[in-house]
Amino acid sequence: MNSKEYFSLKFENDELIFLDQTKLPLEEIYHATSDYERIANAIERLEIRGAPAIGIAAAYALALATKNVKKESINNTFASAFERLKNTRPTAVNLFFSLNELKNVYQNSDASNDIYNLLLSKAIDIHNDDVKKCESIGKNGLKIFNKKSIVLTHCNTGKLATGGEGTAFNIIKQAYKKDLVEFVYADETRPLLQGSRLTAFEFEKEGIPFAVQTDSSAASLFSAGKIDIVIVGADRIASNGDIANKIGTYNLAVLCSFHNVPFYIAAPTTTIDKNIKTGNDIKIEYRKSEELFNINGQKIIPNKFNTYTPAFDVTPSNLIKGIITEEKICEYPYNFSNE
Ligand code: MRU
Repeated sequence: MNSKEYFSLKFENDELIFLDQTKLPLEEIYHATSDYERIANAIERLEIRGAPAIGIAAAYALALATKNVKKESINNTFASAFERLKNTRPTAVNLFFSLNELKNVYQNSDASNDIYNLLLSKAIDIHNDDVKKCESIGKNGLKIFNKKSIVLTHCNTGKLATGGEGTAFNIIKQAYKKDLVEFVYADETRPLLQGSRLTAFEFEKEGIPFAVQTDSSAASLFSAGKIDIVIVGADRIASNGDIANKIGTYNLAVLCSFHNVPFYIAAPTTTIDKNIKTGNDIKIEYRKSEELFNINGQKIIPNKFNTYTPAFDVTPSNLIKGIITEEKICEYPYNFSNE
């Protein structure tokens, strides 16, 4: 691999190889494992993160859990690995989508089947499918640019967060190639800095001009008229188009509304949860206080302080100008339950 090449997830020789996102951008360290528990742990620790990437990794993990398991224990093994993976993170619906896809395959198989290879082939399909979805999102998103634009994005939505080239990130990349992007501001994305550590890492690799800024700097850019478009990803989209995404996303949607700047979501249809009506039904993950007490292992405030630690917020659909999927650009009012 040359120094510009990297990937988040690769399945080879019965092992999942993943880039440890907790170490980026200072160290590029890949781990390889065939242990589903190690993958569950990597999802919990955010070594693997981003809604589509979590779903893909969990699919490989569930398949691996069944490798070389005797027929008499396969039901119990499958059920306990399913439960373990399901409980790694609560908000991104792609995790549950993938696990349920594999469960369907499992339930429709019989004793004569090679369960591991059956499930592995489904996991590979989910991964390949995400690659194609990212490609189409990148193409569909070009339509939102009517001039060479300055874009603001939040959290990470690139290769690291997906199985392919990314969602919102890929739109920015494709638009940049067509000379439709002048510059990108990447919110640092407190507290875990997905923007400054991961998105900036990816913009740098792609040679796209960018600046990292603290999340609270966004308003000053809007008031100076410096932002033309905001594009971010999503972890779950309700039937009415309310979306959950990284904490701080809602702030940007409100700023866009106040300053009359279009606010777009880019996500594959696997992020749409037709089982829920509105954003009120989305389970928001709360992270450990340690993530506020320390930065990179360095203590910054005493453990006795109370903390407020939501990992995601919900943006109401009326603030979203469009939701860009691999199929099309949907516009407000949204009704995904009928689609
Ligand atoms: O907590 P994370 O890092 O998994 O959260 C990631 C995000 O919120 C991303 O913006 C979202 O998953 C979209 S990924 C294409």
